[in-house]
Amino acid sequence: MSNIDYDDLMKPVIGFLGCETPKAWLDEAVNHLDILMQDHANCEKKAASTAMNLMFRYNFFSDLQVRLAQLVREEMLHYEQVLELMKKRGQAWISLSAGRYAGGLRKEVRTYEPEALIDILVIGAFVEARSCERFYALAPCVDEELGRYYRYLLKSESRHYEDYLTLAVDVAKNYQLKNPQETIQDRIEHIREVEKNLILSPDDTFRFHSGVPVQAA
Ligand SMILES: [Fe+2]
Ligand SMILES: [Fe+2]
Repeated sequence: MSNIDYDDLMKPVIGFLGCETPKAWLDEAVNHLDILMQDHANCEKKAASTAMNLMFRYNFFSDLQVRLAQLVREEMLHYEQVLELMKKRGQAWISLSAGRYAGGLRKEVRTYEPEALIDILVIGAFVEARSCERFYALAPCVDEELGRYYRYLLKSESRHYEDYLTLAVDVAKNYQLKNPQETIQDRIEHIREVEKNLILSPDDTFRFHSGVPVQAA
């Protein structure tokens, strides 16, 4: 194993998020590794698709093209890796509905541009930061093989978080805002609260980004 200082790597990520993953969620995850892995696979595919959609929708914004093209490639690679790992471990494919997390965040996207794009990018930063934080918290709780994989993944997810945040700041700086009173910092704080609430409130559907399992809440 490389000697990366994970605590150093995690500091900005944990500082960005409004809360850490509750212990009750981690306990549930360890007892439902099949759902966790399947939903994680689904999230990787979804992450690639979201980034690809942004590339089409905002094709005038060239910085976004380059960063997102790389992100799409990485998320698709993660998708293949998780499927591979599931196969190796003899885990059958499960058909799972989406949890409430992504939809709960998407509701916050404003309806006018460039604010809508800024919100989507800020939300992207939170989703990546949360994934990174969850991999870090899960790594010591799961078996050696999965733990090693999660530690490997959290490095790319921390980079994805930074990429989304950089893009959001760039858009806020370079495009005329419809509503200049609401700064990007205000949006980050607002989304942080919404995200924190999705993580800390009771949730009856266990998923990779779910809240506190209902029995434990
Ligand atoms: Fe990923
Ligand atoms: Fe990612």
